[in-house]
Amino acid sequence: MNTPRLFSGIQPSGMIHLGNYLGAIKQWLELVKKYDSIFCIVDLHALTVRQKPEELRRNTIELAKIYLALGLDFQKSTIFVQSQVPQHADLAWILNTITKLPELERMTQFKDKSLVHKENINAGLFIYPVLMAADILLYDTAVVPVGEDQKQHVELARVLARRFNENFGETFVVPECLVQKQGARIMGLDDPLKKMSKSAASSFNFIALTDDTKTVEKKIARAVTDSGRDVVSGQDKPALTNLLTIYSLLTNQTIAQSEKEFVGQGYADFKKSLAQEINKFLQPIQKKISAFDNKAVLKILSDGQVRAQKLAEKKIKEVREKVGLI
Ligand code: TYM
Repeated sequence: MNTPRLFSGIQPSGMIHLGNYLGAIKQWLELVKKYDSIFCIVDLHALTVRQKPEELRRNTIELAKIYLALGLDFQKSTIFVQSQVPQHADLAWILNTITKLPELERMTQFKDKSLVHKENINAGLFIYPVLMAADILLYDTAVVPVGEDQKQHVELARVLARRFNENFGETFVVPECLVQKQGARIMGLDDPLKKMSKSAASSFNFIALTDDTKTVEKKIARAVTDSGRDVVSGQDKPALTNLLTIYSLLTNQTIAQSEKEFVGQGYADFKKSLAQEINKFLQPIQKKISAFDNKAVLKILSDGQVRAQKLAEKKIKEVREKVGLI
């Protein structure tokens, strides 16, 4: 029997932050041991928000370096850039034709992004979840490990897989969405009621994986806290719960263990330890990122493209036949 497949991806738009790592990449690093894994850099999705071309190119390569620096093994898994495998866009078009408008209108990310990018509510932003479904379905994906904010999109991929299979015969695997119990939704440091986000108005919302020591210290010192003095989590303590979640995930312990560690200490002590832990995690990664050579990374991406395209071509051929394209 073939090893079941895993597919996931990140947009190369702006800063990759701790939320992306703790919500998604951290679980990838565990799951690669069990699955035939494909990690995509989804540059076509990034285009749904206005990008400066030079910056997009730079961020795409930078994200590949981040994948590698965090420990994704390009020999054991496939790492590639979405736009370099044109079958993603091909399949997205076909899936668009079986997607119902209300299914897309319901998407909370579309609603949120439409509020933030009022000047550019484009058709791509609206059909974004269909392209994501194409990414997943093209590879007979069994599992999609993502943060909680992507659950609704993976659910649509499941619906479209079933609908296509019912209409045209068994073609797609119906994927499972894997969301971690802890860390699935890391909140903004400046607003613990909203998720940490690359497109936040202030850089004090997130810790970028490329932030230097001083910046991390400053951002954590400024992070919002709750009323009270004790370092404890709870429903009425969204800020502390978020900071404790980050601390616990980085130190590989439970929130209860972290709370115990800070009994009798105040917010300032806790924040100092948190900043130290974050820097301890980031420094070796940043060293690795800066040591990669662009040429070597482009070679890894081009090898990944060849591997991904082989699979994608086979699937799209089957889809074309099933829907009646000659
Ligand atoms: P993106 O680029 O916004 O985020 C990448 C991954 O990080 C997770 N994430 C978070 N997790 C916890 N807390 C947060 N604050 C947080 N912010 C982001 C996301 O859930 C995601 O797992 N549409 C996707 C990319 C995509 C994709 C795919 C993913 C395109 N095609 C196919 C899986 C499979 C996106 O924009 O993720």
